Amino acid sequence: MNKSDLKLSRPCDQLPIKIDRAAPQTLQFQLFHGIQALILSGYLRPNELLPPFRELASQLQLSRNTVILAYQRLISEGYLETRPGVGTYVTGTLPERALHIQQTTPGTSENDDFLARRHPFLFHGDLHEIFPPRRLRPEIDFFVGRPDSTSFPGKLWSRLLTRKIAHGHGGMTEYGDPAGLPDLRAAIADHLAPARGIKADPDQIIIVAGIQEALNLLSRLLVASETRIAIESPCYQGAAYVFQAARAKILPVPVDDQGLDVDALPSGPVGVIYVTPSHQYPLGSTLSLERRLKLLEWAWDTGAYIIEDDYDSDFRYQGAPLFALAGLDRHESVIYLGTFSKSIGAGIRVGYIVAPHALARPLTALKGLLNNGNPWLEQAVLAEFLHSGSFAHHLRKIRKLYLSRRNTLIDCLHEHFGDSLISGAEGGMHIAWTLPPGLPDADKLAACALEAGVGIYPLAGGACSFIADDHQRRRLLMLGFSSVSESKIRDGIGRLAGLCAPDRAGAAIDYAI
Ligand SMILES: Cc1ncc(COP(=O)(O)O)c(C=O)c1O
Repeated sequence: MNKSDLKLSRPCDQLPIKIDRAAPQTLQFQLFHGIQALILSGYLRPNELLPPFRELASQLQLSRNTVILAYQRLISEGYLETRPGVGTYVTGTLPERALHIQQTTPGTSENDDFLARRHPFLFHGDLHEIFPPRRLRPEIDFFVGRPDSTSFPGKLWSRLLTRKIAHGHGGMTEYGDPAGLPDLRAAIADHLAPARGIKADPDQIIIVAGIQEALNLLSRLLVASETRIAIESPCYQGAAYVFQAARAKILPVPVDDQGLDVDALPSGPVGVIYVTPSHQYPLGSTLSLERRLKLLEWAWDTGAYIIEDDYDSDFRYQGAPLFALAGLDRHESVIYLGTFSKSIGAGIRVGYIVAPHALARPLTALKGLLNNGNPWLEQAVLAEFLHSGSFAHHLRKIRKLYLSRRNTLIDCLHEHFGDSLISGAEGGMHIAWTLPPGLPDADKLAACALEAGVGIYPLAGGACSFIADDHQRRRLLMLGFSSVSESKIRDGIGRLAGLCAPDRAGAAIDYAI
């Protein structure tokens, strides 16, 4: 075969490649990328000859060897071909249309045609709304549900990590049980019996990357398009969106100061009801025992599964803690979800499902299909943290800290705003504050507070959806206290009071609203 059989075009004289001798990449790597980019952009076309090694080496002031090695890599990756007596040329079979396409621009007709041929998204949700772009944290941030970062047991955690890597690193190279490390599941079962009244067999426990993953697994298992799902109104947004994304039919049930209004539960078949009985998110109410029993009865009658999201029940400051719904369940109706995001930190991404026996295996299979289980190391460390009693010690310590922060927050609100209505203070990491008459609406106050360096959260901005009650939407603020020091709490509420005092020069909010 010779040049004419191949219909090669003549070699280009100069290749526009810039070699930067100060760059950290090797010269060979830069040349490889330079030629690759010229091919992908269409500058070098299929069957176009490249300059001989020697010529290109002298043009770019490289050694011949460097050029040979770069050409060899391009040949091995399919960009170039070579024939003895012919030279090195761009592979003739590369599909030109795929090579020369410019980046498509949104809104152009070419792009619209292309998108029209795509399969439509099955995901229903507005990502911008769910995960708004991150802003700088305000100086004093009453963000909801964030643990105190200085209380993270860092020294112990790093000792346990080192020890696990040194002595048990077999777990790093194996696929484990998708349901999670047996040691951790046993430790969680031991913790749940006294703490939440749940007698769980470790086989019922599936370790997940937080409650959010649990909700996704459950949605895949139990929710089809148009499945009727009851949720609280207002509801934790992370749960509501998962069910909406699965195209469930959402049935909001109102919540009052005793939690879910069980007299308003829907009639007819319901697949799942999602509830936060220990500390309703966002209002903070605790579901009374009477309502718990009625809810269980309703679930037994309708055949619905109850998803019990017990996100922050590790913190209870007054009154005896009510056992979890799952502890009262006699018909395997409750799917219990727990997390270490609040008690240790959201960054470790460990939570768990306590599943009714019938669901444990299908959920384990789904977890395996999703990601073959959680990472071993974090599970191994956490198992030891629990077994050794360090978790119980850590909880005692942070409960005390959060209690005094909660008290300071309530005292400051009373001091500056009189007898305001506060709910959800019996437990958890946030309170819901009903703005006293005379104060601006929650949105307006939050916007002004932000300018004064204080983060406070109206329901809509605090990860809630299905807010049916307009008064709640306009007049409720969520204030997280767990991650704010007492001096900052005083400063932050003082700043708010300053903004709300119309007689204080300059800073006051314009009340003409
Ligand atoms: C009510 C509720 N459920 C679940 C979660 C998510 O928890 P995880 O970090 O375990 O996914 C949160 C997070 O703040 C929450 O507030």
